[in-house]
Amino acid sequence: MKEKKKVLIVFGTRPEAIKMAPVVREFKKHSEEFITKVYVTAQHREMLDDVLEVFSIKPDHDINVMQKNQSLFYITSEVLKRSEGILDKEKPDMVLVHGDTTTTFTVALAAFYKKIPVGHVEAGLRSYDKYQPFPEEINRVLGDSLAALHFAPTGTCKKALLKENTDKSSIYITGNTVIDALHTVLKEIKSSSIYFVGSPKCILVTAHRRENFGKPFSNIFNAIKRVAERYPKVNIIYPVHMSPNVQEPANRILGNTRNVILFPPLNYSDFSKLIEASCFVVTDSGGLQEEAPSLGKPVLVLRNVTERPEAVSSGTVRIIGTDEERVFKEMCNLLDNKKHYDKMAKAVNPYGDGKAAYRTLQAVRHYFGFRKDRPKDFTPK
Ligand code: UD1
Ligand code: UDP
Repeated sequence: MKEKKKVLIVFGTRPEAIKMAPVVREFKKHSEEFITKVYVTAQHREMLDDVLEVFSIKPDHDINVMQKNQSLFYITSEVLKRSEGILDKEKPDMVLVHGDTTTTFTVALAAFYKKIPVGHVEAGLRSYDKYQPFPEEINRVLGDSLAALHFAPTGTCKKALLKENTDKSSIYITGNTVIDALHTVLKEIKSSSIYFVGSPKCILVTAHRRENFGKPFSNIFNAIKRVAERYPKVNIIYPVHMSPNVQEPANRILGNTRNVILFPPLNYSDFSKLIEASCFVVTDSGGLQEEAPSLGKPVLVLRNVTERPEAVSSGTVRIIGTDEERVFKEMCNLLDNKKHYDKMAKAVNPYGDGKAAYRTLQAVRHYFGFRKDRPKDFTPK
């Protein structure tokens, strides 16, 4: 019998928590091989706690770093400093981080300083633009270069890693765990307080990226206001991110428009139901570019570049930027032109089949010698 290995699973923000919840669940199911500990930085507070509640996760460590309107310098230095003690106490055999946030990069750096191998979930996504998304593109590149194991969601991500001379044997194609999370909430968690959105046509909006602060947000919100005024029977539903840089312009520009419904952030269970109920999605989010296509919902992306090209290639996602006129026209086109809408509204699953967390676990088992053969890579159907 091999000795158990201790795995420390780390996250800090809403999307990391959603995408790591299936991984936590999978490792906890294998207590004969793994001791699983959860460490949250709480780079987000309320938005993180919502996810912890939906997936019933009780962290072993919570350093509660979030401050109002925090800077990148603050998050980086605070998380780095406070991670040392946690790593000293737990002495894990592996640290698992997720994605491209400042928590991801900083905790990977802390683990590297302690010579603890890092497994990077959602490795290899690239926009090839240092400043878009900012600072996430570089957080992910640095996370990948610090990692010993790379869990690439797609073949494109694996190719990007190989192009950077990443050791081939460290890369496993797993699919994206967001599809596991989405399947779980839509199947297992039935209750929802969102009852009214299905009947009139509804468009779902989210936005929060740092590179969209200021003028781009004004452009986007002005375009949305014009769409709402032109289509009074369409509801535009927008759960507004808690960042003050988003709250202020969203409430100022959209606050008094009757058919724009501004919500606080919704828990993942309610939000998933809302994706299902919407006719299309307008967003600058990363995760939504993966979730909405799997439910056959067209996505207009409020960015100039994306690190998720797969659903763009299949036609369900369009990159539209942040110019007011373009955002207005693209939204009107999806509402007016049924042929165009139907062409985009195809369910495509380049990102996963709901088994990404299982493949991640199997890759870690392979790394530690709990299984001899390499697990099979995910290939989209
Ligand atoms: C962070 C990530 C981004 C990710 C996003 C998901 C970085 C640099 N950015 O960006 O990659 O896409 O999370 O949403 O890691 N706030 C609250 N309560 C919360 C959460 C946020 O009040 O539960 C407010 C706080 O004032 C906080 C601010 O939002 O300072 C910004 O949070 P921060 O994590 O710095 O940036 P995000 O834009 O959320
Ligand atoms: N989400 C949520 N409630 C909301 C808005 C988004 O649960 O009110 C979920 C969404 O389904 C996706 C994730 O949060 O899984 C995306 O988070 P965000 O847009 O904040 O970050 P990104 O994906 O851009 O990093």
